[in-house]
Amino acid sequence: MRPESCSPPAERPRGFFAQFGKPTGTLGAVVGQLMALKNGPRSRFVLSLLDLAPHHRALEIGFGPGVDLARVAALVPEGSVAGVDHSDVMLRQARRRLKRTGHLARADLRLAGVAPLPFADAVFERLFSINCVQSWDNLDAATREISRVLAPTGRVAIAFQPMSRGATDDSARRKAAEIADSLGRAGLREISISERALRPVLCCCVLATR
Ligand SMILES: C[S@@+](CC[C@H](N)C(=O)[O-])C[C@H]1O[C@@H](n2cnc3c(N)ncnc32)[C@H](O)[C@@H]1O
Repeated sequence: MRPESCSPPAERPRGFFAQFGKPTGTLGAVVGQLMALKNGPRSRFVLSLLDLAPHHRALEIGFGPGVDLARVAALVPEGSVAGVDHSDVMLRQARRRLKRTGHLARADLRLAGVAPLPFADAVFERLFSINCVQSWDNLDAATREISRVLAPTGRVAIAFQPMSRGATDDSARRKAAEIADSLGRAGLREISISERALRPVLCCCVLATR
């Protein structure tokens, strides 16, 4: 298996690879640094689809070491960023990164899961999540929460690039179709899937609007 799991809940990895689903302790801190170093091409692809404007309030679900929160904060100088991650190790790394990059004052980072999201209704113009969806126990509960916190005319991007042994482009496409169906059930519209050929396999990003 490669770093980062895409396994469904019943087949979640253990040991080192479980760290990518919820980094803990010293090993989790190392895994966070690895994520910060390795995930640039995928992140740039996803962020390019968000069509960010300077005033946007953006939420990331599963921010890991906070690299993408810092990238987005730089793109919304009149707006703000918020995020949830259920790992306290990642929360600390992300906070440190945002402080170092001068964005912490416009950031609201919480130790929390995807459902429920600890935010009021209809507050975010943009919401994104990158290689976190594979850990969500209840996809429909998560997409309902995403729909709830998204502002009118808001846009969501949920990206998935399978990293488990034996994963193929089709694994990515199958999961993307599942995410798209769930976003539709949650009442979101204009649902589409963008693909980017990356190594080791395809990254699919599901887009939708409120
Ligand atoms: C594989 S890492 C990806 C991190 C980052 N998005 C990236 O692309 O580099 C997944 C992150 O999502 C977090 N995560 C996984 N499931 C979660 C959940 N249900 N709620 C909140 N955070 C979650 C993990 O703690 C981890 O930091």
